[in-house]
Amino acid sequence: MSSTAPFLYTAAQLFAWISGKPDFILLDVRNEKEFANWYVEGPSLFPYINIPYFNFMEDLQESIGMIPAGQKIRIVCAKEGSAKYVAEQLTSSGFADVGYLQGGIVAWGNVLAPRLVSPPEAPYSLYQMIRPGKAACSHLLISGKEAMVFDPSRNVDFYIRFAEEKGARIIRTFETHRQADYISGSIRMAEKTGAAIMVKKEDFLGADFVFTAVEDGDVVSFSQSGPRVKAIHTPGHTMGSTSYPIDDKYLISGDTIFINTAGRPDLGGKSEEWSRYLYLTLTLKIRDLGDEVLVLPGHYSSWDEANSDGIFMDTLGDLRQKNVAFHLPTEHKFADFIKANLRPQPGIYATIRRVNGGWLQVDEAEADVMDLGKNECGASNYGKIGVSAEKNREGD
Ligand SMILES: [Fe+2]
Repeated sequence: MSSTAPFLYTAAQLFAWISGKPDFILLDVRNEKEFANWYVEGPSLFPYINIPYFNFMEDLQESIGMIPAGQKIRIVCAKEGSAKYVAEQLTSSGFADVGYLQGGIVAWGNVLAPRLVSPPEAPYSLYQMIRPGKAACSHLLISGKEAMVFDPSRNVDFYIRFAEEKGARIIRTFETHRQADYISGSIRMAEKTGAAIMVKKEDFLGADFVFTAVEDGDVVSFSQSGPRVKAIHTPGHTMGSTSYPIDDKYLISGDTIFINTAGRPDLGGKSEEWSRYLYLTLTLKIRDLGDEVLVLPGHYSSWDEANSDGIFMDTLGDLRQKNVAFHLPTEHKFADFIKANLRPQPGIYATIRRVNGGWLQVDEAEADVMDLGKNECGASNYGKIGVSAEKNREGD
């Protein structure tokens, strides 16, 4: 390979680079609408520009002229092909260091970044698996030769391999609720590993796969000694939403509590009724958990929510102070806040829910398309505070 030939880079590399201080310009060649809807985000800001592929086709020289000469360029497109084309044009025009993303933005959407949550000296390992393309977090708990996973994404081979590297196999896969915003990996995980799927049945009535129902107060253990995983029914985001305290130290909170807000209770079409449940969950069920419990949410809305180790985790005590969802004194004030801070749920969510109930099978290409984009699972995830409740009701 000559020094000027464009090269492929992976989504995992991209995340590693933008987790530091990248020395390149990221060039996104998708169209403006696609770019506005969903773009690459990392822990800090970096130079990121959008010149659509179409512009390069229309006027190559003018488009190239918009990119500062002498810079390192990393290109993103939808699938890979148009980024490769633009990369070749740039290298032909004298750019010396040009890469294009393998698998395009779809690959970005599936990448997982593990972060060790538990102290290195702890007798078990708890990892947060951050999915930066979806702003979602799943979790992996390893004790001895066994592992349990919570809310896995479709990229199940990553979890399986990661556990294997630590000498463990996945024996259970928990769902905090039936997801609407991404295709869960639990069904595939069970097929590949024989892991038991653990769910609260309210969200999975009539589901077309075998599952083990968890009930409020259940405790699930590893076969040898190890951390105890408890189930607490925390309805509101969905009626089957369940949170899982681990050893009374961590709380896998799913989409019930996030760092700055709470999960949206309107996805089932019963916004008022479910927001009452969510309000009662926060004021009643969560009340008995200690301030020192470390909350690990299923989503984040911005990297500002990560702690200094790049982990989305905070103590319940801190969240009680700073999370707006804990500061709404009555169910009506809570419901008003929710209504005022929602965006319409994407139409695809109804289809994703069917996939996650096992009622609809889709091939990889369809799944890739359905899984695109950042989540919309929280109230006020995107700073919609201030938009009137009336306006938002239209989109409910
Ligand atoms: Fe959700």
